[in-house]
Amino acid sequence: MNLKEISDNIKKELSQSQSLTELDSLRKKYLGKKGILSCLFKSLPRENKNDFQKVNQIKKELENGIKEKKKTVGSLNEIKEEVDVTLPGIKTETGTLHPLTKGIKDCLEIFEKMGFVIATGSELENEWYNFDALNFPPNHPAREMQDTFFVKQKETNSSRERLLLRTHTSPVQVRYMEKNEPPLRIVVPGRVFRNEATDASHETSFYQIEGLMIDKDISIANFKAVIQEFCQIFFSKQAKTRIRPSFFPFTEPSFEIDMTCAICQGKKCSFCSNTGWIEIMGAGMVHPKVLENSGLDSSRWQGFAFGMGDRIIMLKHKINDARLFYSGDLRFLKQF
Ligand code: PHE
Repeated sequence: MNLKEISDNIKKELSQSQSLTELDSLRKKYLGKKGILSCLFKSLPRENKNDFQKVNQIKKELENGIKEKKKTVGSLNEIKEEVDVTLPGIKTETGTLHPLTKGIKDCLEIFEKMGFVIATGSELENEWYNFDALNFPPNHPAREMQDTFFVKQKETNSSRERLLLRTHTSPVQVRYMEKNEPPLRIVVPGRVFRNEATDASHETSFYQIEGLMIDKDISIANFKAVIQEFCQIFFSKQAKTRIRPSFFPFTEPSFEIDMTCAICQGKKCSFCSNTGWIEIMGAGMVHPKVLENSGLDSSRWQGFAFGMGDRIIMLKHKINDARLFYSGDLRFLKQF
C-alpha cells in the first residue's frame, strides 16, 4: 500500500466513524504500538526523509481529524442522553387487593369493632360438622350429590369420616363452640363450594362470612341491632333492613334479611325486581340441638347466627355478574 492509499483510507474511515469507541479503534489501528503508521515509521530507512515527513503529515492529519470528530460525536451523544426533567414520570404499576379480599376485610373490621373475633375452619370438612351436627335430617336434599362435592373415598358408615368440601361456613359454629366457653362472638370468613351450574349469580365456589353470638340472654333484638349497624357502615347511612321468616335446619326461628336496594335506595328498579329490597343473608336463633351437639347446655345459653355471601360485595359496588370476580380481567380488577 502506498502512502496516498493509506491517507485516503484514513479519511474514509474517519468520516464513517460515528462514536467515541469507533474513533478509539481507528486511533489504535493506525497509531497504536502495532498500528499501521507506527510500523511504517519503524520500517522507513533514516535517510528517507521525504517519506518520513509524509508519514508524519498523515499522522498529524489523523490526530487532528480524530480530535475534531470527537467534538461532533460527543455532542451527538449528549443530545441523546439529555433528560427533560419537566416531562411527567412513568408510573410503576402496583398491584392492589382483589375486590373480594378487600370487601371481606372491610366487613370483618366492622364486626371486630363490635367485639367479634375472627375464627376460621377447614375447606375440607366432614359430613358430621357440615350437616348432622347442624341438625340436617339424614335425607335432606342439600346433602345429595348435585349440591355437595363429596370426596371420593372408601365406603364408611361414620359421617365423621365422610369428607366433603364444605357447602357453608356454619360448621365452624359447632367446632368453635366445642372448644370455647360462652359468652362468645365470632365472625368466620371462608370459601365454600356448591355443585351448581354457574351463571351471573352462581359460582361453584364463593366466599361467606358467618357470624355467631352466644350468651345468656341474646335475642333477635340484639341481632337486628348488630346487622343494622353493619349495613349502615358497609353500605350507607340510609340503608334500612327488614327481617322475613325463613327456614334453616340449624336455626329456630329462622329468617332472611333484606336491605333497601343499594342501587335505587329502595325506589324500586330492575336490580331488585321492582321491590325496593335485596336479600343479603340468612340468619336465626341457634337451634337448641346445635348447641347440644356442640356440647353446650341449651337451657343456659342462647344466641343468633347469620351467614352472608360475597353477593354483598357485588351489591356494594353495583356489580351484576359474580363471574367477573374470578375472570382475572385487569380492566375490572383495576377499578378497586
Ligand atoms: N349457612 C346458611 C347458608 O349457607 C346461612 C346461615 C348461616 C343461615 C347461619 C342461618 C344462620 O345459606
